[in-house]
Amino acid sequence: MIHIRRARPQDANGMGLAHVAAWRSAYAGILPEGYLANLSALREAASYQRGIAGRQNGHAAFVAVVGEEDMPEGTRAPTRTPPGGLVVGFVTGGRSRRPEIAEAEVETLYLLDDWRERGIGRRLMRAMAAHLHALHCRNAFVWVLADNPSRWFYERLGGRIVAQGEVEVAGLSITQQALLWDPVESLLAATAGTSSPG
Ligand SMILES: CC(C)(COP(=O)(O)OP(=O)(O)OC[C@H]1O[C@@H](n2cnc3c(N)ncnc32)[C@H](O)[C@@H]1OP(=O)(O)O)[C@@H](O)C(=O)NCCC(=O)NCCS
Repeated sequence: MIHIRRARPQDANGMGLAHVAAWRSAYAGILPEGYLANLSALREAASYQRGIAGRQNGHAAFVAVVGEEDMPEGTRAPTRTPPGGLVVGFVTGGRSRRPEIAEAEVETLYLLDDWRERGIGRRLMRAMAAHLHALHCRNAFVWVLADNPSRWFYERLGGRIVAQGEVEVAGLSITQQALLWDPVESLLAATAGTSSPG
């Protein structure tokens, strides 16, 4: 069974690994190969650990975790599954860094390849929407690289493109789009039927 729960500091290593794996898969052909090869799971983990501990500006992280018994054949971890479960995906967000677009922001959402298209992304978005709603944020947005195929996932959940901008990654200027849910309840409605974390 896949559990969605608030992230703990000890989940940061798993989040760092999932981050790097998802970037290499999602951004191949968009970002330079050398840049993707040099991503460091440890560096990302340190950054997620600071975010989990700090909880600044309404920041929260939710993880999707599985136990060893839930892993499909061929994907069993080579080492013992960590006590809190293996992190297969996560979402982070909080109050917006761009309040002129929306009051809240979903900052990251990443799943390991083997765990996609079974509803986990939707459940993580629901957990984040419930959190942002509890913070009394009226609306929420997410930045997505325009060439990222996963943009359709957010559109499927009702996100509407409201802004476009350039972001510098790996020395390149890349086009990104902001997708908005206004009110934030529309994201709760689009993800209804999936269980929120306890
Ligand atoms: C985007 C992502 C989190 C989606 O998670 P997921 O668990 O695979 O998605 P779900 O199974 O919850 O899908 C929810 C809905 O979106 C649709 N969907 C998911 N990915 C899609 C895609 N790439 N294109 C079109 N529709 C998609 C599903 O069909 C489903 O719709 P339905 O149930 O109404 O038929 C996952 O694919 C991922 O981690 N991608 C790589 C990292 C990334 O790009 N993250 C976003 C950075 S901003």
